[in-house]
Amino acid sequence: MIILGGSASTELAEKVAKEMSVEPGRLEIKRFPDGEKYVRVMEDVAGKDVAVVQSLYRTPDEYLFEYFLLVDALRDLGAKSITGITPYLAYARQDARFNPGEAVSCSATARLIEAAGTTSFITVDTHLHRLENVSKVFKVPARNISAMPLLGQYALENLSPRKPVVIGPDAEAEPWAAATAKELDAEHTYFRKKRITSSKVEIDTGDVDLDGRDAVFADDIISTGGTIAEAAVACRKKGARKIYALYTHPVLATGALERLHAAGVEKVIGTNTIPSPISKVSVAPILARALKSRP
Ligand code: R5P
Repeated sequence: MIILGGSASTELAEKVAKEMSVEPGRLEIKRFPDGEKYVRVMEDVAGKDVAVVQSLYRTPDEYLFEYFLLVDALRDLGAKSITGITPYLAYARQDARFNPGEAVSCSATARLIEAAGTTSFITVDTHLHRLENVSKVFKVPARNISAMPLLGQYALENLSPRKPVVIGPDAEAEPWAAATAKELDAEHTYFRKKRITSSKVEIDTGDVDLDGRDAVFADDIISTGGTIAEAAVACRKKGARKIYALYTHPVLATGALERLHAAGVEKVIGTNTIPSPISKVSVAPILARALKSRP
């Protein structure tokens, strides 16, 4: 198998290749003076299985189009199979038409990924609030694997939370809280969240007992930090000792970490689906495992 990393995920692709005991494949990617991208595959891919790692964060449109050029080239060069790995799948939150006339960006993105020539697809903890699974938007075999067990292990080994309760900040995060709690051998629950604006939410904690206990949040995305900041304040009021936040995707809008720390969150940990200062956990092992067991 040849593992290629687009410019969004060069380091992650190297780590995945290492897990698979192969050298990462070579690419040349540059930008022309007029802003257009240039992509060149420097490997003989004819008849080979190829995986392309390209997370769609911060400048998702740029990375998506680069992915398109790369996969189209691989198809043209005769690759036998092309597994697309976008650990962070941008546009997943717009998975429905909430207002008349809106683009349904999630399915549009999936169509573009497929149209390039992707023959199977892997993503990580995709935000699927209204869809049952990623196969609802992809026609090619698609898998949504979870980094929560890795984050739970990290918390166990590095944070050693005391009498922890793992909390999903909203109902949709309950499965992530459950998967994390399993690693910590802890109980889990979830809060109810009402979004007021894109950076403001209201949190209902229900009747969870946090007195003298550590609260460990597990969620897919930290963007503005508004969700966990609000939830952390509510936990403090309930007597929580320390508060930790574990996220798969550190989207990190400006000021998000400061907001969490100001709200009393002790440590914020993320994965490297998006490179960031809090990306302490690598998803390379689970991506390699998914590649090895692809259909
Ligand atoms: C929303 O449903 C997600 O699971 C996250 O909770 C949300 O995207 C976090 O956004 P923010 O950090 O801006 O509150």
